[in-house]
Amino acid sequence: MTEPNQATRRERGHRRSVFSGIQPTGVVHIGNYVGAIRHWAGMLDDYDCTFCVVDLHAMTVPYEPQEMPQKVFETFIINIAAGLDPERCCLFVQSHVPQVTELCWMLMTCSSMGELSRMTQFKDKSEKLGGQVSAGLFTYPVLMAADILLYKAEVVPVGEDQTQHLEFAREAARAFNARFGETFPEPEALFSEVPRLMGLDNKQKMSKSLDNHISLLEDRDEIWAKLSTAATDPARVRRADPGTPEICNIFTMHKAFSPPEDIEWSAHGCRTASIGCLDCKRRVTDNMAAELEPVREKYRELAADPGRVREIMAEGAENARQRARTNLAEARRSAGLL
Ligand code: AMP
Ligand code: TRP
Repeated sequence: MTEPNQATRRERGHRRSVFSGIQPTGVVHIGNYVGAIRHWAGMLDDYDCTFCVVDLHAMTVPYEPQEMPQKVFETFIINIAAGLDPERCCLFVQSHVPQVTELCWMLMTCSSMGELSRMTQFKDKSEKLGGQVSAGLFTYPVLMAADILLYKAEVVPVGEDQTQHLEFAREAARAFNARFGETFPEPEALFSEVPRLMGLDNKQKMSKSLDNHISLLEDRDEIWAKLSTAATDPARVRRADPGTPEICNIFTMHKAFSPPEDIEWSAHGCRTASIGCLDCKRRVTDNMAAELEPVREKYRELAADPGRVREIMAEGAENARQRARTNLAEARRSAGLL
């Protein structure tokens, strides 16, 4: 039977498949939340979604093995708490589905060394590591392509820093199909509309390693302590100086967390100097804390019930493994493996 083309499948109510990967960093900040998790959570009803905590990718750089289980566990539950409802998507841990490494090998035989050596993330990371560069770091994009193709994902929501890796995955699908026959769809990237949040210093993007972030688990007081001292429009030195909301990082956060009337109130107040930065920051704090409160609550609930979390993990892995087995069997047939 021939596969109906995408347009006809969509007309028939086919939900397109989505896949994305999450690094097991443990700490998740509001940049990850608005730029990734909240965006994904908004896709659960319209797409067939699969999300994976990528512990095998985390092995490509030095790490403490005894810290890994805790990091994977925390990342897993914080993503559920922040909206990846396991009743409405498949959430699992990468290494629980070993089929991905076999597909990775097959794709490695279709990948070009030249293309891999042009990956900017590889160049950046290997520079930082000095002489300690593993072959795993070099082939990181192949494992990522295997993640995506193993589930025949059509749409991959990622940050713009992953554009090159996504292009690599598309190329891997094309190369496999050209060599062994049509097997995998070419995945397409989907970027979040929320701009990158800058860190509290407003110098570099918000990131855990720069310690300029607000974690998803911080309460109102902690958020206020950070926001009240955070950088704003540098030209607005005194309260009487009018400001330019568009260049203020706090305003970007405001747009990500507040209702339109509050955003308008701040924009107008800032431009006319009728409110001070602290007045604006208080609103942002209230709205951010209100949105994050249920996330913290859900996190606490899950953290207190590790048995339940293990069950969710096992269910996610089982669901993913079933699809992985089917798709890997097809890839093996295409490649002529007995
Ligand atoms: P990372 O673990 O830092 O690579 O972040 C994972 C994902 O979170 C990225 O691919 C982005 O989609 C999102 N993200 C990370 N940092 C930010 C930020 N500062 N602002 C907005 N989105 C971010
Ligand atoms: N490389 C991605 C990142 O650092 C994580 C990732 C691994 C991923 N496998 C993936 C993202 C598959 C999308 C699809 O953010």
